[in-house]
Amino acid sequence: MPDRAAISRLLEWQVAMGADEAILDRPRDRLRPKVSGVRPAAPAAMPPVAPTVMAPPATTAPASAMLASAREMAAAATTLAELRAAVEAFDGCSLRRTATHTVFADGNPAAPLMLIGEAPGADEDRIGRPFVGRSGQLLDRMLAGIGVTRAENAYITNVLFWRPPGNRKPTPEETAICLPFVWRHIALLRPKIVVLCGGTATATLLNRTDGITRLRGRWFDLPVPGIAMPVLALATYHPSFLLRAPAHKSESWRDLLSIQSKLNSLK
Ligand code: URA
Repeated sequence: MPDRAAISRLLEWQVAMGADEAILDRPRDRLRPKVSGVRPAAPAAMPPVAPTVMAPPATTAPASAMLASAREMAAAATTLAELRAAVEAFDGCSLRRTATHTVFADGNPAAPLMLIGEAPGADEDRIGRPFVGRSGQLLDRMLAGIGVTRAENAYITNVLFWRPPGNRKPTPEETAICLPFVWRHIALLRPKIVVLCGGTATATLLNRTDGITRLRGRWFDLPVPGIAMPVLALATYHPSFLLRAPAHKSESWRDLLSIQSKLNSLK
């Protein structure tokens, strides 16, 4: 008798590790006739298969319909509570299927500082709040160094509201579908400063292809749909990069001091 609980735990583990499709690693010939009572012969060794060049889909209608729906739902939200409800109700991002929680935001919505990261990880997905794992703890310590806390003067979110399976890098389609909600998020909060944490947030919101090492430490005027004046934005390293490469912490410290002095000048 199979142990159903164990099988279910195994499946959950596979999903958490990034297996988001139930497929075999080799094709199975489902047309091979089955002869009852006769053991099927062992399958012949597979000949090497030439790589297939995939044709683009004939139509992008479903994706564009989802994008239109994301734009419509985001634009209809006139308060933060409505925006959160819209994100929670939106089913156009496939990451929802494997995520446990929608991770919307944390911190003080009236804060002058809004930080935007990449996507929830395993801890965030389990708890439903952004930046609660190791990189979030580092971020909190970094912010504390310039007298900033989530409870008082920072608001934190991500460009994606659902965890990519196995913490893989989000696809451009996934970031594009969440982007209308992110723009609306900024427009409703109207922070004085936006800090883009890491390459994904920076590339997505600034729409630039140069890497984070070239862009970090620089201030940009971020045009936000629905706000007349651009918002000041600083690109900086993601705290999870700093956990892997602590030698870069001194550059991040310079960025933090730059944020502090900008906040002081805007008081
Ligand atoms: N990394 C992110 O970019 N966001 C989180 O919320 C957690 C880790």
